[in-house]
Amino acid sequence: MPTLTGCLESCESPGGTGSEVGRVGNEGESLGDENFRNFLVALRGGKPKTVKYHPEKCLHAELFDASNWSRWLDPRLSKVLEEWHRTGDLKQVDLDAAALDLQALAPGIFSFPCFTADFCRKILEEVKNYQRSGLPERPPNSMNNQGLVLNEIGLLPLFDELLSKVLSPLAARLFGDDNDRLLSLKGQKTIGNWGGSHLDKHHTFVVQYSAKDDTHLDMHIDECDITFNIGLSESETFQGNQLVFCGLYDADDHRKHQLTYRHVLGQCVVHCGKQRHGAVDIEEGERASLIIWTKSHAFRRSAEYRALYDLDRWKLGKADQICLSYSHDDDYEELMPDEMKFQMPTHLAEAAGTASSTDASGVPINRKRRREDSANGAEPSRE
Ligand SMILES: [Fe+2]
Repeated sequence: MPTLTGCLESCESPGGTGSEVGRVGNEGESLGDENFRNFLVALRGGKPKTVKYHPEKCLHAELFDASNWSRWLDPRLSKVLEEWHRTGDLKQVDLDAAALDLQALAPGIFSFPCFTADFCRKILEEVKNYQRSGLPERPPNSMNNQGLVLNEIGLLPLFDELLSKVLSPLAARLFGDDNDRLLSLKGQKTIGNWGGSHLDKHHTFVVQYSAKDDTHLDMHIDECDITFNIGLSESETFQGNQLVFCGLYDADDHRKHQLTYRHVLGQCVVHCGKQRHGAVDIEEGERASLIIWTKSHAFRRSAEYRALYDLDRWKLGKADQICLSYSHDDDYEELMPDEMKFQMPTHLAEAAGTASSTDASGVPINRKRRREDSANGAEPSRE
């Protein structure tokens, strides 16, 4: 089975409703010739002919009507955005409002109620319906095998609307420039400007974990500026598979445990893409997340961004075992005991910061490799 471990730029923006480009998945060998040709065209960066899913084969047509965007929001979030929608004044987005129940989990990591349970259920049903359809798919990013790129099945317009009307003001308040950003929120500092005031692009996908395929996600950073990660599964349908957050990519403590987070249906955890994170092993059942990677191209062109994201500053440094990465850390083999290699057991997250710490400090990294391998990217080239 051919596996696409990165996506070309053209894959990310296939061109609107009903326009889908995919990978060859498990069912690849049985795909029709036309779909397979489209896949090859996409690989070469060209614009493929569309493969139709919506409206003929979709399950929930209402998801594909972008004008429905407000219908899917948790009412608590709608309320907080109401005044901004009316006036355009970002200062009216009161993330401290008791009614929103935003949680400040750690510096630069926040969670808040985002989508309704009905929306989460329909998105996951739509994903499974597409996966049964026999239409082409590709892995959603370079580290997850199981899931689906929603932008490529006709949902790009919906998430364009959600980015501009819902996520952008939140990003501006939490990760935007000095005029927009809160300095702290509910006792946790924000971590500075990461382009949140000017988000202009997203890569939106679902990831799925189960004993059958992806059981965990190795430590990594994301190939985006700000990540929105929303739980799609009912709590009682899975055990384990918590998200684990470590430090920002270039901080002295970037391999030290900060936070373990258990997903909640409809709840979003938002963080800077350069925050090291992963997911521990799933112990029972299945879990799915909706992930919206967002970018600001204007910010990426700025001197401020180049100063912030300088891969030459990477160093390995001290580590908790749960924060080690078998994909990215040159000292993984040395520091991870054999019986735990290439796993991410839950007990490591629980033990973080105690006996699992290592004494490795300030080890210079192989910079060339880091440039190539550091991020969980949808695109092969790094910006
Ligand atoms: Fe990630």
